[in-house]
Amino acid sequence: MSDPNTLQTITDFAEQLAVEAGDLVRRERDQNTLRTDYKQQTELVTHADVMADEFITGAIRERFPDHRILSEESMPDLSQAEELETPLWIVDPIDGTVNYAYGHPQVAVSIAYAENGQVQAGVVHAPFPGETFRATRGEGATLNGQAIAHSGATVPRQSLFATGFPYTKDNLAPLVDRLNAMIHQCRDLRRIGSAALDICWVACGRLDIYYETVSPWDFAAARLIALEAGARAGHFGDVPRGYPEDLWGQDILISAPAVWEPVRSILRSASGYD
Ligand code: IPD
Ligand code: CA
Ligand code: CA
Repeated sequence: MSDPNTLQTITDFAEQLAVEAGDLVRRERDQNTLRTDYKQQTELVTHADVMADEFITGAIRERFPDHRILSEESMPDLSQAEELETPLWIVDPIDGTVNYAYGHPQVAVSIAYAENGQVQAGVVHAPFPGETFRATRGEGATLNGQAIAHSGATVPRQSLFATGFPYTKDNLAPLVDRLNAMIHQCRDLRRIGSAALDICWVACGRLDIYYETVSPWDFAAARLIALEAGARAGHFGDVPRGYPEDLWGQDILISAPAVWEPVRSILRSASGYD
């Protein structure tokens, strides 16, 4: 495990990359140069996604040639998450691509750094509002340099939750069942459109609960930020034995600590897990 000073340097580096990539992403949209395409027929991808991915992964490779990289656009090989020997960077160049393409502000660059499958540093930078969430393991979490903390919500009925839905529409029924249960038992729903920001918003108390099934690049950095802000992070489903929990994206639940167990019960019973 790296010493705290090294981890601070790594977090600084991740922040610098996230902010520079965020500038690139913002510039591309402000200059109306947005070019969109589709991957796997349904999933929107813009030229800026690819440019930001190349910028971030190129800079990591140059500084840490021995490290592995898992990035959504250029290196999406999920088996990387299970190889624990060398440090791993986990990158989402634009989380919230649909928002980006529609001119919405909820867009983030997400960069995480893990050793032995455990995330040690995370940065989520939202270039449009100019907000940078950051955490180094054991050192707390900040938003633009100020310490942040979860909302302290105590009951689901007075909790605001966020979730999301996949691009593929072939298995939506279980998600609709969960949503049905949650909307009846919580205050209300927000569909922000960026998993990384959903989780950072739980970290700073703008939301109380987040759950979804997503990929490691969507949540790895934000999950550490939430944990360091005192939120509880785990899963309402099972994590396969031996798989690094920090990188398992199925059935994620992150919330203010007091509502975590009650919400887990709601989601498990709506999923037919119990
Ligand atoms: C998406 C966002 C969204 C979530 C989707 C993700 P992308 O990431 O995080 O909130 O619901 O499942 O794929 O495609 O914008 O990077
Ligand atoms: Ca994403
Ligand atoms: Ca993305």
